[in-house]
Amino acid sequence: MGSLEDRWRRELDELRAAGRYRELRSPRGHDFTSNDYLGYAELASPSEPTLSTSGAASRLLRGHHVIWPVVENRLAGWHQAPAALIFTSGYVANEGLLGTIIGPEDYVLSDACNHASIIDGLRLSKAKQRVFAHNDLHDLRNGLRVAGDRQKFIVTESLFSMEGDTAPLREIAALAESYDANLIVDEAHATGCFGSNGSGLVDALRLRSQVLATVHTGGKALGVPGAYIVGSMLLREILVNRCRHLLFTTALPPVVAAWWLMAIDRAQNDDAGRSRLHSNTATFRKAFARHGIAAGGADYIVPIVLGDDARAVAAAERLQAAGFDVRAIRPPTVPVGTARLRISIHADHDPALLDTLAEQVAAAVRATA
Ligand SMILES: Cc1ncc(COP(=O)(O)O)c(C=O)c1O
Repeated sequence: MGSLEDRWRRELDELRAAGRYRELRSPRGHDFTSNDYLGYAELASPSEPTLSTSGAASRLLRGHHVIWPVVENRLAGWHQAPAALIFTSGYVANEGLLGTIIGPEDYVLSDACNHASIIDGLRLSKAKQRVFAHNDLHDLRNGLRVAGDRQKFIVTESLFSMEGDTAPLREIAALAESYDANLIVDEAHATGCFGSNGSGLVDALRLRSQVLATVHTGGKALGVPGAYIVGSMLLREILVNRCRHLLFTTALPPVVAAWWLMAIDRAQNDDAGRSRLHSNTATFRKAFARHGIAAGGADYIVPIVLGDDARAVAAAERLQAAGFDVRAIRPPTVPVGTARLRISIHADHDPALLDTLAEQVAAAVRATA
């Protein structure tokens, strides 16, 4: 048996050889990579002299500051749903939700492009799983047909984080209803950005009554730390009693709750930001289309699949050298052979810069072919 350090060095060497070595790098250049879709991330933090910076304990103990129910009621109201429950992150919320309410005797249909936190939550659940082809209603229906007499769950993202496309939620909700399946939708990338009050795609499509739960993150468009789950009072009650990801971790600090109240107000009232986001998306996609290179999806996440890892890294490096912070997305974040550039359009991007970016991306794609 070699040493543990030798094992780590070998692993890192293998990653380097495969072109999948990662480093933490500080942001540089125009931000076309973060999930700050509405441009809130650069806003200065308000001072809250009366609110503590310590969560102090689990929510179940002294971590349940009086401000948290205020935030959760505001969130429930935003979604016109019975209840909401805050978590420390979207990763934790997905893992906690799926690992708590789904059990080994259940049957789950999960989209092939679902996020790692969904995959890990489903592993925790130990349920029988069938992964259906991405956004493929036919494959989903086939899975539902063979599920038998078990409690069934369908889990999907609404706007997919790496594909930039949206799930056919109306059709999925209809299938869920006809096969008596419970629908869970991860709205991480849609929260703040869709619907007349920004509460996401499920609400914009008026599907709230057809979903068991939605999962929302604060760290993307809303610009605050944490995440939340929306659903029934009973769902909230079972999570408060059973969810290890809520019970056995320190609550977010009360000062963060004040930021949530501001973030909800800001997002709810930011129709102008949403329309800038969607018009910037149209501007970039139109400019890029002129170069005759395919881009995936139709929204503000724009993936350009290059296939080879090294090619994606080289294209991203060219863009970074030109002052654009665009990163290469490689396996295991995306399937092998689908390494890509992922361009994230924001409400506060200057439209003139989007034309230049389109040109530079096309040049980088061609130069690395
Ligand atoms: C679809 C999806 N769900 C959940 C998460 C996790 O959210 P958070 O960053 O708040 O942990 C992410 C973040 O990458 C995501 O893309």
